Amino acid sequence: MERIKIKDLLENKIEPGKEVVVMGWVRTRRGNKNVSFIALNDGSTINTIQIVADVPLFGEEALKPVTTGSCISVSGILVASQGQGQSVEIQAKKLEIFGTADVDTYPLQKKGHTLEFLREIAHLRPRTNTFGAVLRLRHALAFSIHKYFNEKGFFYLHTPIITGSDCEGAGAMFHVTTFDLNNIPKKEDGSINYMEDFFGKETNLTVSGQLEGELAALALSEIYTFGPTFRAENSNTPRHLAEFWMIEPEMAFYDIHDNMNLSEEFLKYIIRYALENCKDDLDFLNKMYDNELVERLKFVVENEFVRLDYTEGIDILLKSGKTFEFPIQWGSDLQAEHERYLVEQHFKKPVILTNYPREIKAFYMKQNDDGKTVRAMDVLFPKIGEIIGGSQREENLEKLKSRIAEMCIPEKDIWWYLDTRKFGTAPHSGFGLGFERLVLFVTGMANIRDVIPFPRTPKNAEF
Ligand code: 4AD
Ligand code: MG
Repeated sequence: MERIKIKDLLENKIEPGKEVVVMGWVRTRRGNKNVSFIALNDGSTINTIQIVADVPLFGEEALKPVTTGSCISVSGILVASQGQGQSVEIQAKKLEIFGTADVDTYPLQKKGHTLEFLREIAHLRPRTNTFGAVLRLRHALAFSIHKYFNEKGFFYLHTPIITGSDCEGAGAMFHVTTFDLNNIPKKEDGSINYMEDFFGKETNLTVSGQLEGELAALALSEIYTFGPTFRAENSNTPRHLAEFWMIEPEMAFYDIHDNMNLSEEFLKYIIRYALENCKDDLDFLNKMYDNELVERLKFVVENEFVRLDYTEGIDILLKSGKTFEFPIQWGSDLQAEHERYLVEQHFKKPVILTNYPREIKAFYMKQNDDGKTVRAMDVLFPKIGEIIGGSQREENLEKLKSRIAEMCIPEKDIWWYLDTRKFGTAPHSGFGLGFERLVLFVTGMANIRDVIPFPRTPKNAEF
């Protein structure tokens, strides 16, 4: 007989009275010498199905290995449930044990482990309610992102993971090499001879797919990337990973206003998708971790984002009378505390901040006529701070060249990028959404290490 997923049973897709087969992991078993109640979960939903096993039918010995964490297959009759909390249960006829889980060594015996402890057993934590919920939400959000862009006629572009360029210029890159690190080929002047390395040049893991995304947008009009990115910044914060996933749409013929409109519509679409499709998981997280979660998600979906100049934002912060850990002045980059002040205390709404000082932003951003600012836009969210960073791009070849000269970026490294401005250049814009920051926001979790299956952070790459 074919296995049925627990989600389908609980959603009443099968009529009571039928024989069914379910497989999954035992969450709990309780009962007495007449009857045993097994709560079984197969990950298709956060909910468990109750298996009712007559002890005399199976024998006490046969049921003994059915402990928390063990994996079993059960066939039996689906019946309307007598107890509260579930509509159906299974009256077991046959039971097979795939794998036992020793009560003395299986670490997930009880509920209520700390998230810190669960990080140390990242290989087992998907079996908890919390991580099941987070992983299902992560999937739903990824799916809704592809759905959104597909409906809008954007093409999914695969950009390289190994590159020779540094998009953000932040200098926080992981090298990629096949050199023997104890015997690195040197040139006569003592510098490393990359000619002898695998690619014949210096390469690194990408920090962003944007530059390649622009090449395709200036041919297909509207594309997006969705892939892993890598940053070797040594920032041990609850919002930074060394390996994270980023979604980067890039659109020809969009100015900064079109870009802001897209970012707002996009975020609302995917958050609404989660609200409509992940109710059980969101209700669980709302109850266990963050009582305002669902309310906050609805609030973001239902309200217009505030749009504000960086300069005005600085004025508000200066006039706030608040002492920040990092003092603020015009020209400095905003820290999470500043972003969250604007969003949570001042406006009480998501904020899109634009026109940042050129000195704190990347080389590719379109320069404003004031000579001081660039057409950047950051979307700031409650509890998160920056969730999206983007800009209108500098499409003018001469202006772009003078900017990269100022920033000491060798033209020979990005000649191919400059070619797009030489041949058929076009106004265009794009942005990057940090996928884990989005998952943080939607799940209400507090630490970014708890929204990716296997987090990569400084001194941590165990699993
Ligand atoms: O603001 P960032 O650095 O922008 C870019 O990389 C541009 N190339 C995007 C574009 O215009 N196409 O990064 C974009 C987003 C941030 O807003 C943040 O959400 C996320 O990526 N992010 C990180 N997420 C987790 N860990 C990190 N270390 C992150 N750094 C950036
Ligand atoms: Mg940024």
